[in-house]
Amino acid sequence: MQIIILENPEQVAKNATQWISELFSKRTHPILGLATGSTPINLYQELVKSYQQEKLDFSKVTTFNLDEYHNIAPENAQSYRTFMKENLFDRVNIDQENTHLPTCNNEQNPRWQGLAYEEKIKQAGGIDLQILGIGGNGHIGFNEPTSSLSSRTRLKTLTEQTLVDNSRLFNADEYQPTMAMTMGIATILDAKHVILMATGKNKAKAIKEMITGPVTAMCPASALQMHENAIILLDEEAASELPNQQYFQRVDSEHQKIRDKYGLFL
Ligand code: F6R
Repeated sequence: MQIIILENPEQVAKNATQWISELFSKRTHPILGLATGSTPINLYQELVKSYQQEKLDFSKVTTFNLDEYHNIAPENAQSYRTFMKENLFDRVNIDQENTHLPTCNNEQNPRWQGLAYEEKIKQAGGIDLQILGIGGNGHIGFNEPTSSLSSRTRLKTLTEQTLVDNSRLFNADEYQPTMAMTMGIATILDAKHVILMATGKNKAKAIKEMITGPVTAMCPASALQMHENAIILLDEEAASELPNQQYFQRVDSEHQKIRDKYGLFL
């Protein structure tokens, strides 16, 4: 894991944008894994800005989102498709045919839908860079605590904590789905690089468990300890419960010299 501690959420978004720019400059057809939620909103704003300044071209990019609510119409205001359109897809020159989310409605067999999503990722050549947030309970995607570390795209029932955390995004009269299709932990670990972004004090405990705790299904993000190229971008608040912060700062400044010389990707 490369742990990078930055001052604030804006710096986290800017740093993630640099990695994505590097990916776009190195691959003719970049395959990008995306996340929803509050954390990546700043990142999407940065990506849109870079596109408007003609620094980024999305015309050859393919995307795979981590998750989507079960049995929700794509045009529903609460769907992750709508979130992605509003925050990114409708604001850059991406071909919307090349944007994928793991959907499943009541008429579809979730097992087949999961297999089909895995196959689509494989056919595209695998994910080059997967963007992740982290839940207060350590979830990545909607892999809630106790998810199998070998899991693949499937239907998951959301925990009480996730439902409460996400209820802020629903109006009182709106139905809040209790299940979601999500990439599995093994699907995420297959990505060539992952960037997990975490900002704010409410993520500090999960971050500490992810980095310094055991690899355990009780903290699904801890599986990233097994990933060869995991980059963890934290603001100071999310890093606040980490022991050895000075060590991480020193490692990062030494790595910065290597990145300056050879670029961001190996
Ligand atoms: C969203 C997702 C989730 C979120 C996590 C954090 O696609 O997969 O794992 O990344 O719940 O959400 P925020 O950023 O809203 O705190």
